[in-house]
Amino acid sequence: MRLQLGSALVAGLAVAAETSASKEEVKPAGVKNVAIIGAGAAGASAAYHLRQYAEEAGVKVNITIFEKTDRIGGRTLTVNAHDDPSQPVELGASIFVAVNHILYNGTKNFNLSIGSNYRVAESQADVTAIWDGESFVYETTDGTAWWWDAGKLWWRYGMSPYRAVNLVKEVVGKFLKLYEQPYFPFRSLTARTYELGLVEITGVTGEQFLAQNKIDEKFSRHIIQAATRVNYASNLAYLHGLETMVSFATDGAMSVVGGNWRIFEQMVRNSGATVYHNTTVSAIAFAKEKTSSSAPKYEISTASAGSSSTEPEVVATAFDDVIIASPWQFSNIEAGEGVIKHHIEEIPYTKLHVTLFSSPRKLDPEFFKLAPGSTAPSNVYTTLAEGEKPKEGTEGVGQTGFYSVSTLRTMLNPKTNATEYVYKIFSPKPVTPQFLSELFGVKVPEAFTSGSGENGDDNGGVDPISWYYPHWFYAYPVELPRVTFQDPILGSGLYYTSGIESFISTMETSALMGMNVARLIVDDAAGISREEVPAVMSEGDLGLENVKVELVVEEPGEL
Ligand SMILES: Cc1cc2nc3c(=O)[nH]c(=O)nc-3n(C[C@H](O)[C@H](O)[C@H](O)COP(=O)(O)OP(=O)(O)OC[C@H]3O[C@@H](n4cnc5c(N)ncnc54)[C@H](O)[C@@H]3O)c2cc1C
Ligand SMILES: *[C@@H]1O[C@H](CO)[C@@H](O)[C@H](O)[C@H]1NC(C)=O
Ligand SMILES: *[C@@H]1O[C@H](CO)[C@@H](O)[C@H](O)[C@H]1NC(C)=O
Ligand SMILES: *[C@@H]1O[C@H](CO)[C@@H](O)[C@H](O)[C@H]1NC(C)=O
Ligand SMILES: *[C@@H]1O[C@H](CO)[C@@H](O)[C@H](O)[C@H]1NC(C)=O
Ligand SMILES: *[C@@H]1O[C@H](CO)[C@@H](O)[C@H](O)[C@H]1NC(C)=O
Repeated sequence: MRLQLGSALVAGLAVAAETSASKEEVKPAGVKNVAIIGAGAAGASAAYHLRQYAEEAGVKVNITIFEKTDRIGGRTLTVNAHDDPSQPVELGASIFVAVNHILYNGTKNFNLSIGSNYRVAESQADVTAIWDGESFVYETTDGTAWWWDAGKLWWRYGMSPYRAVNLVKEVVGKFLKLYEQPYFPFRSLTARTYELGLVEITGVTGEQFLAQNKIDEKFSRHIIQAATRVNYASNLAYLHGLETMVSFATDGAMSVVGGNWRIFEQMVRNSGATVYHNTTVSAIAFAKEKTSSSAPKYEISTASAGSSSTEPEVVATAFDDVIIASPWQFSNIEAGEGVIKHHIEEIPYTKLHVTLFSSPRKLDPEFFKLAPGSTAPSNVYTTLAEGEKPKEGTEGVGQTGFYSVSTLRTMLNPKTNATEYVYKIFSPKPVTPQFLSELFGVKVPEAFTSGSGENGDDNGGVDPISWYYPHWFYAYPVELPRVTFQDPILGSGLYYTSGIESFISTMETSALMGMNVARLIVDDAAGISREEVPAVMSEGDLGLENVKVELVVEEPGEL
C-alpha cells in the first residue's frame, strides 16, 4: 500500500467540492428509485435511515436491496451450536459498546435484549489472562473492563492505565463529532479526518501514538496489544492509532441476545425495502434510456444463486441512486465504462480463522505451564514476548500461534444432556488437531476436526470435541497508518460505504457510513444545503508537516 498523500487528498476535497456544487439542482418530484447492494451493517443502516430521512423531508423513495446470501447481516452472523437454533453463537462481529449510538439505539427502538459479553456463567469465576507464549503477563477476573484491576494496574504500570483511559475518551469524543452537524453528513471522510484532528492519530502506528502520549511500553504491549490482537489480529506496530484506541474502548461490551444481526434485520424490515435474497449483483452500468435531467440512471444486472440460467439478468427498474455496501474488491461487480468516476483503491484485508467448537473439557493448565490440577483461565488473549519482533500479517502472531481462545459460555449438549463449554479461537492459520490436543491435554483425533462445519458433529465423537465449526473471513482491512480514505461518493448518484473500514472497521462505523450516505441522498433530493465546516485551503494549512508517517510497508504476499 502506498501513501499518496497529496493527490488522494486533493481528489477527496475535489469530490466534496464538485458534489456540493451540484446539489442545488432541483429534482423532479417523482419517486426516487434507490438500489442498495449488500445487506450488512452498512446496507441495512442505509436503507433504514433513507426511509426515515425521506419521510421527514417529504421525498418519495422506493428502496431495493440486493443481497448475495440468504441472510441479513453480512459479517455479522451467528451459527447454531450443535445445529440447535436455540443456541446461536456469534461467528463474526460479536461486541459493541454504548457509544455506538446507531446500534445501541437500534436495540432500544427494536426492543432487542442485550446480553453482556466476557462472562461464561454467573456462578463461575471468569478469568481473562494475557499469554505471551512463555508466561501470563497479566490476569484479571471480570471487572468493569476485562483488563481493569485498579490495584494491580497501579502497582505494575503507574499512571499509564489512567492516561490510556483518558486518551481513549478524548479520541472517542473527537470521533463522535462525525454524528453531529456540521460534521454530519460528510462527502469526504478524508476531509473530516483532517478537520477533526484525527489525522494525527490515523497517520501513525498505535505504537507511535502510545509512545507520544507517554503510555508505558509494558502496559502497551501487555494490555493494549492484547486488545489489538483480539480485535484486529494485529500488533501495535502495524495498526494505526485510531484503530488502536477503538480496540481499547470496549468497556461495557454488549451483544444482542440471539445475534447482533437482528438489529440489521429490523432495520431492513423497517425500511420497507424490497429485498432480493440469494441475488448477486454482477454489473452496474448507465441505463440506456435518456433522462431529461443531467443526472444519470443506473442499470443493474444480477445473477441468482440456484437459478438455472447462467446469464445475468438486467433488473427492469432504472435506479436514480446506487449504494455499494460491500468491499468492492470482494463484490465481483463489473462497472460499465465511466460509471466509477473516483477509482476504488484495492486494500489488503486480514485473513482471519475463527474456530468455534464445544467440549466437555476445560483448557489444560499445563499448556500454559501452570501446575497440573490448577485451573487455566477461561479466556486467554495473547501478546508478543519481551524482545519478540513484531511482524506483519500471518507471521505477526508470533510464538503463541493464536490471537485468542475464549470460553463463550456453557451449554447442554442436546445429544447427551451433559454440560459443555463453547469455545472460540482466533488464529492466522487453520487450527490443527495437534494444537487442540496440546490445548486440552488429550488426544484430539483428525476426525473430530475434519467436519466441514455444518456437519461437524457427525464425527461420531463427543469427547473431547462434540461440535466443530471452522470458518475464515477477510475480516477487516490491514489497518496500516494512512491519512486519506476512500470517500463515499464514486460518481453522480453512486455511493460506496466500505471506505470507512480503513478508518475504523466495526459494525457501528459501517452503519454510520450507511446513515451518512442516506443523508446525502435525501439532502440532494430535497435541495437541503448545510453549513460547511470551515474549508481547508491547502496542504500547508492542514498541519501535515506535524504528521510523522513512518511506514514499514511490506508487500502483503502471504495474504
Ligand atoms: C471475525 C470477525 C469479528 C469481528 N468483530 C467485531 C466486533 O466484535 N465488533 C464490531 O463492531 N465489528 C467486528 N467485526 C467487523 C464487522 O463485522 C464489520 O466491520 C462490519 O460487519 C462490516 O459491515 P458491512 O455492511 O460494511 O460489510 P459486510 O458485513 O461485509 O456486508 C456486505 C454484504 O454485501 C453482500 N454482497 C457482497 N457482494 C455482493 C454482490 N455482488 N451482490 C449482492 N450482495 C453482495 C454480502 O453478502 C454481505 O451481506 C468483526 C469482523 C469479523 C470478520
Ligand atoms: C420499486 O422497485 C421495484 C424493484 O424493487 C420495482 O419493481 C417497482 O416498480 C418500483 N416502484 C416504482 C414506483 O418505481
Ligand atoms: C436461498 O437459497 C437457499 C439455498 O439454495 C435456499 O434454501 C433459500 O430458500 C433461498 N432463499 C430465498 C429467499 O430464495
Ligand atoms: C439515538 O437516540 C437518541 C435518543 O432518542 C437521539 O437523541 C439520537 O439522535 C439517536 N442517535 C442516533 C445516531 O440514532
Ligand atoms: C419488548 O420485549 C419484551 C421482552 O421480550 C416484551 O415483554 C415486550 O412486550 C416487548 N415490547 C414491545 C413494545 O414490543
Ligand atoms: C435429555 O433431557 C431431556 C429432558 O430432561 C430428556 O427428554 C431427554 O431424553 C434427555 N436425553 C438424553 C440423551 O439423555
